[in-house]
Amino acid sequence: MLRVQNLTKRFGHVTAISNVSANIRKGRVTALLGDNGAGKSTLVKMICGTYKPTQGSVWVNGKQVHMDSARDALALGITAVYQDLALVDQRNVIHNISLGNIPTKWGGLVVDRKKMRETAENALSYMKAKLPSLDIPVSSMSGGQRQAVAIARACASGGQLVIMDEPTAALGIREQRMVLDVVHDLRAHGTSVLIISHNLDHVFEVADDLLILRGGRVVAEVERNAVSHDEVVRLILAGQPRDADLEEEVAA
Ligand SMILES: Nc1ncnc2c1ncn2[C@@H]1O[C@H](COP(=O)(O)OP(=O)(O)OP(=O)(O)O)[C@@H](O)[C@H]1O
Ligand SMILES: [Mg+2]
Repeated sequence: MLRVQNLTKRFGHVTAISNVSANIRKGRVTALLGDNGAGKSTLVKMICGTYKPTQGSVWVNGKQVHMDSARDALALGITAVYQDLALVDQRNVIHNISLGNIPTKWGGLVVDRKKMRETAENALSYMKAKLPSLDIPVSSMSGGQRQAVAIARACASGGQLVIMDEPTAALGIREQRMVLDVVHDLRAHGTSVLIISHNLDHVFEVADDLLILRGGRVVAEVERNAVSHDEVVRLILAGQPRDADLEEEVAA
């Protein structure tokens, strides 16, 4: 569905992503793994139009694409849900779900409120979310409820790829469950999901494919069933000094 080819991103002297090639397959859940600073968020931002690659290319359904903004990505069916959610606090759920894509009528002169409410209701029923009301500002909601709104917005865009950067971090157990259920639902509807998570239990539950980065490079691109939990941990950490090595250094 999506391919990145020899992608590199430099920030001044820092190379965050170095010559990364990988595939995100249609209708599958790909987990993007790696330790802090491995380059996960940077890679994702090049796939959803936030960053322009320093080098390399992005391909969607076999065609090379150039994205200059999240809007360009959206037009290609790619949406992202970030940890810092970018909801408009003062607005209600309905408005937030249509954010950036407000339906209008009468040749664009008037906001189509009926359609906007329908869109919100469809998106939320699809993800089984329980929110107190669609008509209250999201500023009065919990972190999990806000996350639900952000994910519903991604679903409402009807995209072919939904990207989630640490969607379950900072959520309660019930809310984490809800997010994982949404991932299952998205896949059941044929949508590809790219999910970043440090929680390997979550990853092993939802992911079909694993893409593991270290120091901005791909160290593994494997099916989840082909590797054990321990092997994944080793791949994420390999090349970093083990505690035993450090102790030797300290002793010497
Ligand atoms: N805007 C930026 N300017 C300069 N350096 C950056 C920028 N964004 C990321 N980096 C650097 O690029 C590297 C990769 O960062 P990135 O945020 O992609 O890591 P990550 O895998 O998402 O980490 P985490 O798990 O902590 O979220 C880090 O060394 C980081 O300091
Ligand atoms: Mg990150």
